[in-house]
Amino acid sequence: MKHLVTSALPYANGPIHFGHIAGVYLPADIYTKHLKLKGEKCIHISGSDEHGVAIMQNAQKAKKTYQKYVDKWHESHSKLFDSYGIKFDFFGQTSSEYHAEEVLIWFDELYKKGFIEKRAEEQLQCQSCSNYLPDRYVEGECYVCHYPEARGDECPDCGTWIDAVKLINPVCKFCGSKEIEVKSVDQWYLALSKFHKEYREWFEGQSKEWRKTVTSFVDSLTKKEMVDRAITRDLDWGIDVPLDEAKGKKLYVWFDAPIGYVSNTKEFLKDSNEDYMKDWWQADDVAITNFIGKDNIIFHAIIFPMMSLASGRAHAVTNLPANQYVNLEGKQFSKSKGWYIEADKAVNEFGVDALRYYLTTLIPETNDSSFTWEGFEAKINNELANNIGNFVNRCMTFFYKNWNDGIAGEKYKTFFETDDFKELQKQIKTINETLDRVQIKKALEQIMALGQTANTFFSDRAPWAQIKEDDDAAATTIAHSSIYALSLACLFKPYLPVLSGKIIEYFGDVSDELIQDIYTGEFKLAQEYFASGVQLVKKPKGLVKKVDADRIKELKAELTQKS
Ligand code: 2FM
Ligand code: ZN
Repeated sequence: MKHLVTSALPYANGPIHFGHIAGVYLPADIYTKHLKLKGEKCIHISGSDEHGVAIMQNAQKAKKTYQKYVDKWHESHSKLFDSYGIKFDFFGQTSSEYHAEEVLIWFDELYKKGFIEKRAEEQLQCQSCSNYLPDRYVEGECYVCHYPEARGDECPDCGTWIDAVKLINPVCKFCGSKEIEVKSVDQWYLALSKFHKEYREWFEGQSKEWRKTVTSFVDSLTKKEMVDRAITRDLDWGIDVPLDEAKGKKLYVWFDAPIGYVSNTKEFLKDSNEDYMKDWWQADDVAITNFIGKDNIIFHAIIFPMMSLASGRAHAVTNLPANQYVNLEGKQFSKSKGWYIEADKAVNEFGVDALRYYLTTLIPETNDSSFTWEGFEAKINNELANNIGNFVNRCMTFFYKNWNDGIAGEKYKTFFETDDFKELQKQIKTINETLDRVQIKKALEQIMALGQTANTFFSDRAPWAQIKEDDDAAATTIAHSSIYALSLACLFKPYLPVLSGKIIEYFGDVSDELIQDIYTGEFKLAQEYFASGVQLVKKPKGLVKKVDADRIKELKAELTQKS
């Protein structure tokens, strides 16, 4: 099986926060790294989502051209991901030429097959500035929950998918006028209703292993029927609708964005001998995994699969690990309210591993979770530093100090005859299986449990006491413990790139094949490697820096003052 992993294309419209990182990009990155470490063929595709009304409004506020505005955020996001060790095989832009080309092919296929239809739609028009008011260009009172600032596309309070013409007391977001009339305008619709039966057949077959949070939501929306949706807009930023009678109209951002997964794959492979369609999007031996937040379920579980299957252009998603939300100290992140931590500053101060570790423990797989500064301190100090850092550091320091010329192979060999080794292999295989099921947080817990096992192994044998009476026994303890240490380093590779790299460096020349052999619990190459004895090539230094409690208090105070 080959693996096509995608992360929801982030809007090029403002900073990325911990919620995005823990909800989408970090789990996708860890999953991809896991597959690659196992030696599977895998690509991780994403990019900036650069169209839509929200971006237009903010570009106008920032007095920038749309293109300059999205380019700025594209660059800023690329840098942030890099600083968090989050890697993509390709991270493109939906404002690029290659993307529009692919989108037009999809539009043509769907149009030819009768899944795109023209309809007259009731739409709001501002009588003062004469703009049509799609999506966020109008605000008013929600007709369901009466929240006063519902937008033309969605009520942020009750989550209703809003029909803009029904808003109570609408206001134009271009000019602030309340003089708004309902007009009849032609728009093109995606005929989801025509594909209902085929969609349900696909969905019922495909989603058996999906998270309940996803399947029950999709069931509630599609079991009885599917509603057609307008995919064109009267705007001046976006991809032109390729029909003479739709001159001046653009495609709706959610029509083009998911096609970004495909167009970015095409761009990634353009100079290779692989074909993005034949070898990936239309291939039967490819598993497609879309990492998304729960607010993107409708598009990834219903609309994009329908577009893919009805057009015949691509296979639809295989697995859809949609996460819930991450809050900040119990409340939603809000940049405008100051309830916010700058992700770039945090990673500069505490380092990539500390943030990746804590954020992994917060991956909201089943429920919303919450970033707290105290939680961060506790997780880093009590778990990462005390469990892992401490064990590896004590073991390596003792090794380096007492057996500077190395420990002979025979001391290692005996480990592979013990039940401890069988147990280690079993635990590693379980960790692999957990990650195969995309349970990223649970697999980290299993690795930490292995860290505990290693710690207990080391402490129970007390090599510092053994060495006083029996040098061989102490050397054997250190040899066996260092097998645990290298195993942990390999298992941490998808999660904590720096820590993992530092531990591996102590061992000197460790090949990628050896890492893979240990990572998958095989230990074939590992037994050969250890049989020839090990000498540490570097003086061990403190591995995990503890987080300072006073600094945490300061950061917490800063946050409450700002808001
Ligand atoms: O919610 C969002 O951030 C969207 N930009 C996600 C798009 S995902 C995909 F369809 F492109
Ligand atoms: Zn107006």
